[in-house]
Order: sequence, then C-alpha cells, then structure tokens
Amino acid sequence: TGTLFEAETGSMSSGGTFDSNHTGFTGSGFANPANAAGSYLDIPVTADSAGTKTLTFRYSDGTSSARPATISVNGTSHGTLNFPVTSDWNTWSTATISVPLTAGANTIRVTGTVADGPANIDSVTVS
Ligand code: GCU
Repeated sequence: TGTLFEAETGSMSSGGTFDSNHTGFTGSGFANPANAAGSYLDIPVTADSAGTKTLTFRYSDGTSSARPATISVNGTSHGTLNFPVTSDWNTWSTATISVPLTAGANTIRVTGTVADGPANIDSVTVS
C-alpha cells in the first residue's frame, strides 16, 4: 500500500531528461538524471500526516555499477541509499529508506554520489 508519485511529476538538475525509451515503467515515463556526481531529481510528494515514512523508489540501473544517491527531504539529507544494478534498463527494482515527512507537501531529492549520477527513477511510493 502507500501512495505512488511518478518521477515525471518532478524536475531535475541540468542535463536530466524524462524518457520512455525503455519498457516497464508506470505513468508516462521515467526520470533519467544527468550522468554526473551531484546531479539530482526532485519529486514532489504529499503526506497526510507528519512522521516517519518509508520511501520506496522504483528504479533501473542496467550498467555493471551501483548508483548510490543521497536522499534529502525539504533540503535535509537523510543519508545515502544504494541503488544496486538491475539486469538491464527494462528491469525495475526497488530501494527503500525511512525518512521524516511533514504533513502536506514535501520535496524528495535524489542526488547521485558517483560520476554516473542517479539511476533511472520511475516513481517513489510513500507508506
Ligand atoms: C543509457 C540508458 C539510459 C540511462 C543511461 C545512464 O543511455 O539508455 O536510460 O539513463 O544509460 O547510464 O544513465
């Protein structure tokens, strides 16, 4: 359960594109953040109450190297989440982290820590 927010409702740092050239995504596509350390994706989410929530990112990384990223909420970092490789770019996996959200609107930022930048991100579910 939980509430799903599509990555394509968000925005990215320079060089990121919303793509649909791989299969298996939900919604109209997925976020392909720029291949650079520090490149990021912002996804707006809402929470019906304040408190610790689980974020489940649906992502793909068809390379041979993981794409760890820091996860920030409303500008505060809550640590680094690993995004391990998937079999190919058409295969989607999930990575989860618990973070505090405020009631109402929140911005989740996924910032790549390696030179390849973040993985392709399809959605985040808040539960
Ligand atoms: C490929 C793939 C993209 C992906 C990129 C990357 O170009 O088609 O969807 O984002 O690799 O390495 O990040």
